[in-house]
Amino acid sequence: MKERLSNNGNGYYPALSHIAKVSNSELSLRRICNSIAKSTARALGAGGCRILLLDSRKKYLSTIGAFGLSDFYLRKGLLDGHKSLPDILEGKVVFVPDATNDERVQHNQIAEAQRVCSILGAPIEDKGEIIGEIRVYTHEPRDFQDRDREFLVSVTDMSAVLLERQRLQQLLVKNNQPNKKTLVPSSPPKLTVSTLRPAEFAHPSEEEFANILNFYCVEWLYEPRSFPLNWDNDRVTEMFTPDFYLPELNIYIELTTLKQSLMTVKHRKLRKLKELYPNINIKLLTKKDIVTLLASHGYNPVIETKAEGVAQILYSHSQLQRRIRTLAKRISNDYAGQQLVLVGIPKGVICFISDLMQHISIPLNLDIMAISYYGGEGQVAKITKDLDGIIAGRHVLMVEDIIDTGITLNYVLNYLRVHNPASLRVCTLFDKRTRRLVDIPLDYIGFEVPDKFIVGYGLDYKGKYRNLPFVGVLRPELIRNEIPATSAPDINNRPE
Ligand code: IMP
Ligand code: MG
Repeated sequence: MKERLSNNGNGYYPALSHIAKVSNSELSLRRICNSIAKSTARALGAGGCRILLLDSRKKYLSTIGAFGLSDFYLRKGLLDGHKSLPDILEGKVVFVPDATNDERVQHNQIAEAQRVCSILGAPIEDKGEIIGEIRVYTHEPRDFQDRDREFLVSVTDMSAVLLERQRLQQLLVKNNQPNKKTLVPSSPPKLTVSTLRPAEFAHPSEEEFANILNFYCVEWLYEPRSFPLNWDNDRVTEMFTPDFYLPELNIYIELTTLKQSLMTVKHRKLRKLKELYPNINIKLLTKKDIVTLLASHGYNPVIETKAEGVAQILYSHSQLQRRIRTLAKRISNDYAGQQLVLVGIPKGVICFISDLMQHISIPLNLDIMAISYYGGEGQVAKITKDLDGIIAGRHVLMVEDIIDTGITLNYVLNYLRVHNPASLRVCTLFDKRTRRLVDIPLDYIGFEVPDKFIVGYGLDYKGKYRNLPFVGVLRPELIRNEIPATSAPDINNRPE
């Protein structure tokens, strides 16, 4: 076996100083990251290095900067952070002496073909949360020392500061664009590969596509994988790199203009790709097809009509469904072996309660009440349809769409208590906590929402928007003239 080399560490201080300098420069994020990768690799005497950022579901890693690695190696396949060196995402510095022969490495053969030998990886942590990694690759067997690890950890710390600063800058830019249709959410977006957007798009249509995906809260990865199409012995002579991968839908997307000459080439490559990789789901899309594709996955009905007036989508259909499944699982566990009655007050809650109950795995009863408001301030409620069943001695879970001031819920809970249920708890999809007037303990909460008027997935504004499959914020100009200062809905319309 070859002797393992080590490094004298003399280059660490100049490297860190150089990294600090480029991080503070006017260069694009991609270039800064490439430069950090280069300084890091050189200081460690390694052949290559790359900086990776996680997607919002913390599953896939995308390269946001690299040095010394071939395009093919960088895009060898989707890098699943939990399959490839998973300990890094657990917060550990990981050393792989021989990547070609180590089960922690996801694509061993490619590592071998690309002469990757030893790997050193460390997590990038942003306020205690792991958001990405830096990996260093050598062509020769290497023994990394403690000082090498310490150096790499310093680089990851500096990178975390850089990425955080970049995110804040992007928020500032967004805030200063008064004509932009999108609203800046009250909680800044998480640091992920699609919010930070380090990709340098090859074509404006790609950026537009990324904007549409962001609007609908659909996670995307830009050019994460290349598929070899032709070989000359061991050498790849032709590759195809689809523009996007949408992990939630498991679809690769190649965008296309209608230019005939380009279309023919793309069609040929696509046919070949489908032949060689029959399990890969890929679509060739024009701009018009995008809307149809998203619609077919429940993301939007038709942007121009049903969703008109929605400034920003807060939760996509699949985000809602994921959260609802989690709530349903907790409810099923908590009430196992008990007699559960779900109580809801339509109309706002109908989408939520119907999805929720389908995921609850224990037997249950459903009961529906109706209330209406009267009195000058709309603060006096009255029951217009009582429960059908008897709740005495049963475990009642009151299911709500959104709790705003809490006045409605308080009234209903007081009413239900009189009927002596064995227990009485509350499950709400949305909690607009900042507007609470009556403090009520909530047992199951889907999402805490900012003080904005939200519509969709059952929630309405003046009877409209209930049929949107997602939840969004209305354009403020639509309600500005009618709703005084707060986000209160039309009081006569409450609590549908
Ligand atoms: P509360 O009595 O103020 O808690 O009123 C809750 C009711 O107000 C909900 O059941 C909804 O019908 C309505 N509501 C409050 N905030 C919103 C919103 O942002 N969008 C739609 N309806 C809302
Ligand atoms: Mg309601």
